[in-house]
Amino acid sequence: MNNTSKIFCALDTSDLEQAKKWASAVGPVTGALKVGMEFVNSFGPQGIEAIQNAAPNADLFIDLKFHDIPNTVAGAVRTTCANFAPAYINVHAAGGQEMLEAAKDACGNDTKLLAVTILTSLDQEAIAKVGYQNELSGQVIRMAKLAENSGLDGVVCSALEIELVRKACASNFELIVPGIRPSGSDHGDQKRVIMPSEALDKGATHLVIGRPITGANDPAKAAREILESL
Ligand code: C5P
Repeated sequence: MNNTSKIFCALDTSDLEQAKKWASAVGPVTGALKVGMEFVNSFGPQGIEAIQNAAPNADLFIDLKFHDIPNTVAGAVRTTCANFAPAYINVHAAGGQEMLEAAKDACGNDTKLLAVTILTSLDQEAIAKVGYQNELSGQVIRMAKLAENSGLDGVVCSALEIELVRKACASNFELIVPGIRPSGSDHGDQKRVIMPSEALDKGATHLVIGRPITGANDPAKAAREILESL
């Protein structure tokens, strides 16, 4: 695990050759890459292997957000760790303490386990419809604490939640933050964005950055410029 890697570049594409090109160009710069549901459902375990071969020294975050009964999630975590020894994987905190603990028990020593609290696509009205009675930020903290108390290594959280979670959880609890936009870059579909250095100043430990890197004419150069701005 390369602890100096602050940026996970999100390889969001359904084109395997494109993903491999990004991985080999950007992996040596950021030292860390992320693959998610679209990629893994398109290319399966072979796709993950192809990314690891294209960027053998880069840490990998396999972002599949497992959420099921404890036994099933533990099996998924165990298999993922055994096959790929990724630096990070994640589960939904909403799976509950027993599921989180089972996931942590099944997690390999080389892999950190993160929780997703409330998806950033959900607002106050949406979580009320699901049945959460708390105010959104209170619910995020509640779920981050649940993850921490269940032994998880950190959470994925939005820019708006960094300071709250940082305050509520231990200083070594990791905060991985997407929705990052360097100044001057296109926001795309991200509604609440933050600059890379600002996110780190607020207490983020790692950033997930996709299109500002992969959408650039020279992704490696874009990644280098972001790192230099930190
Ligand atoms: O291209 P962009 O920088 O917006 O990519 C952000 C990445 O972080 C995508 O892979 C997206 O799925 C992921 N993500 C997010 N917001 C969350 C959780 C994950 O944007 N709340």
